[in-house]
Amino acid sequence: MADAPKIDEVTGTETTGHSWDGIEELNTPLPRWWLWTFYATVVWGIIYMILFPAWPLVSGATTGLLGFSTRGEVAAEIERVELSNAELTRSLTTVDLAALPANEDLHRFAVQAGRSIFAANCSQCHGAGAAGVVASGYPNLLDDDWLWGGTLEEIAYTVRHGIRNEDLDSRYSEMPPFDWMEDEELDQVAHHVRSLSGLDHDAAAADQGAALFVDNCSSCHGENGLGNRDLGAPNLADAIWLRGGTHEAILRQLNAPRHGVMPPWGERLGEAEVRAVSAYVHGLGGGEAQIADPATDKGAEDAAAVPDATYPARAGETPEEAGADDVAPTE
Ligand code: HEC
Ligand code: HEC
Repeated sequence: MADAPKIDEVTGTETTGHSWDGIEELNTPLPRWWLWTFYATVVWGIIYMILFPAWPLVSGATTGLLGFSTRGEVAAEIERVELSNAELTRSLTTVDLAALPANEDLHRFAVQAGRSIFAANCSQCHGAGAAGVVASGYPNLLDDDWLWGGTLEEIAYTVRHGIRNEDLDSRYSEMPPFDWMEDEELDQVAHHVRSLSGLDHDAAAADQGAALFVDNCSSCHGENGLGNRDLGAPNLADAIWLRGGTHEAILRQLNAPRHGVMPPWGERLGEAEVRAVSAYVHGLGGGEAQIADPATDKGAEDAAAVPDATYPARAGETPEEAGADDVAPTE
């Protein structure tokens, strides 16, 4: 260190007195604007520490004079939204479900809420797009083929109480095993079932199977195999399969019937959310307008009275799977 400040000859600037091999270090002062900005940030930092949460403690942090917290902000925001939705939620809980679709604002609110409820609670079984898992017992909720009913009330009941579970009001039925039948008879019934939706089958065997079907199956599936929604017995004539439509899959269901189980959601979600998610499902495309008139229900006795429904082939199905009768002409 030199005693007196030395001035660099070339720049006229004071040097620090440090010198390496004759190269001297200039002592250029910091620009004033920089220095003041720096002091301002220090002051701002001190004020911030006093007003806002700043110093970490063992659990939590200093709270600051203003008592601000991001959690508090979120809670306040949620409360604001809930308050503004409270009116709609109340209406949704009490509205006559049949009238809901006509109430545009309320219906839009329900469907929007229902979409996220579905994503959180239903998609793991029914798929994110609600298309189900074909032939593994998780039904497609997009089509107009309903096991238990497709009106808003019926869907809400299914969601509220579930299917084949511990809820005392859950939807319930059980297809008995037919393993007591002769193999030949099972074969004939299976051919008959495939004939119902126009799939490849042995016509002679199917004829034999028809009588067996009437005796053993029509009480649930209906004489013409159109199903029965009171029992959740699938329509066997529509080429839409819950368990698979191959000869083998039908034989498997006859020998060791499998049954779909769905949990009840009434208590877990509450009535408003049950209704919201039902409105969402109902709005997916297959929703039916009102409670089906028992006289036109696809029941055993009324099977003959049901007009022949035409079912479009579903995406991804070959005409063979969908059944010759079901393929809409493409021309
Ligand atoms: C653990 C799997 C599972 C979950 C989760 C689940 N479901 Fe289901 N759901 C099923 C099964 C399996 C069936 C078919 C039962 C049968 O074979 O009758 C079904 C049937 C249905 C039906 C009746 C379809 C018809 O054709 O009548 C509706 C409606 C339905 N589910 C809606 C929902 C909604 C809405 C949710 C979410 C709140 C949900 N499900 C959650 C498994 C599930
Ligand atoms: C007590 C009522 C009942 C009787 C009787 C009954 N079933 Fe079923 N069947 C059902 C139910 C309920 C299901 C749906 C099971 C499920 O949840 O997957 C079903 C499902 C099926 C399926 C699967 C349908 C699909 O979409 O994958 C076939 C095939 C079938 N039954 C054929 C028969 C035949 C053939 C008979 C007579 C030999 C018969 N069932 C008798 C109630 C019955």
